[in-house]
Amino acid sequence: MANPSLLILPGDGIGPEVMTEVRKVIDWFGTRGMTFDVSEALVGGAAYDAHGTPLTDETMEMAQNVDAVLLGAVGGPKYDNLDFSVKPERGLLRLRKEMDLYANLRPAQCFDALADFSSLKKNVVAGLDIMIIRELTSGVYFGEPRGIFTEGNERVGINTQRYTESEIARVARSAFELARKRDNRVCSMEKANVMESGVLWREVVQRIHDDEYPDVELSHMYADAGAMQLTRWPKQFDVIVTDNLFGDMLSDLAAMLTGSLGMLPSASLGLPMANGRPKALYEPVHGSAPDIAGTGKANPIACILSFAMALRYSFDAGAEADRVDAAVEKVLADGLRTADLLGEEGVEPVTTSQMGEAIVAALAAS
Ligand code: NAI
Ligand code: MG
Repeated sequence: MANPSLLILPGDGIGPEVMTEVRKVIDWFGTRGMTFDVSEALVGGAAYDAHGTPLTDETMEMAQNVDAVLLGAVGGPKYDNLDFSVKPERGLLRLRKEMDLYANLRPAQCFDALADFSSLKKNVVAGLDIMIIRELTSGVYFGEPRGIFTEGNERVGINTQRYTESEIARVARSAFELARKRDNRVCSMEKANVMESGVLWREVVQRIHDDEYPDVELSHMYADAGAMQLTRWPKQFDVIVTDNLFGDMLSDLAAMLTGSLGMLPSASLGLPMANGRPKALYEPVHGSAPDIAGTGKANPIACILSFAMALRYSFDAGAEADRVDAAVEKVLADGLRTADLLGEEGVEPVTTSQMGEAIVAALAAS
């Protein structure tokens, strides 16, 4: 059987720095008989510098034909004055749009050693491991009509929340599929009490559940109540599925329950390909961090955990993903901290590559 294929797009700023550490993890799996066909290309500002465009057609084509894409970060002050059509972010947006990545997965996972880092009490977040799925390609960010219009003698700003049954159904399926690989529970959030799109959302999610995933435990919650419950007792949840706008807010809220931006991975999934794997793009939540680029201060964990998500959700390698998670837990428990994770006095930060190497060593010892 052919090796699974992976396209690596390091990007700009700290993107290439953290990706170098991910390569060490990938290479380590290679020594253990799990080999990927890895290709690499430029994206964002790096692609603009070389080709005058943030994403070439050739790279787009490569992305459409691999099992998974792993991206570092794009952007930076150097590109601030570029025309909107060639800004680094456009490369990322084109990838998401042309791959039709409608399910955005943002885990909120608390590593015990960092529980003190949270703004919530330690017992509330210790052991937390939940997943927010945000619908990414529809809803109020795309619905028509939209714009600022004049009515009589004043202006009116309009956006439209719009969801079709098939858009709701496909993201619901992503949530149920994911729940089956986790704790088998889904909570769907909308505001069916005040929004018709929410009424339809609730109806369709329930129908997909009853027809196709009756084994998964499903509950519904209004999104405002969900925000309260997420801060009160987040461990009550496993998978949360919600629309684009509520998901934007709830995923940021959930992410910050657990601490630093340098720790947060994400996945964006689309429809299954011919081989059954979903179209998939994995990337850390953080950006290119120009303020620390080139200093060896970047935390590579978010990008390494993004690769762990690829193992879990693209490569059916849940045990290997658990192993990466455990290696991260181990180095943190040993007291290793990149600069963004410092809080305790008297701890000397480690560099990006020291952190990457420690994680590989922990993997080897596991
Ligand atoms: P940012 O995420 O790059 O940085 C925010 C702060 O967090 C900075 O102080 C940075 O040093 C720190 N930080 C981020 N990642 C870190 C890591 N792995 N380790 C240690 N510290 C880390 O967001 P910012 O500053 O708003 O944006 C910088 C550039 O990145 C902009 O051009 C922006 O457009 C772009 N960006 C790109 C994203 C992407 O590629 N998906 C997402 C967000 C921003
Ligand atoms: Mg946001």
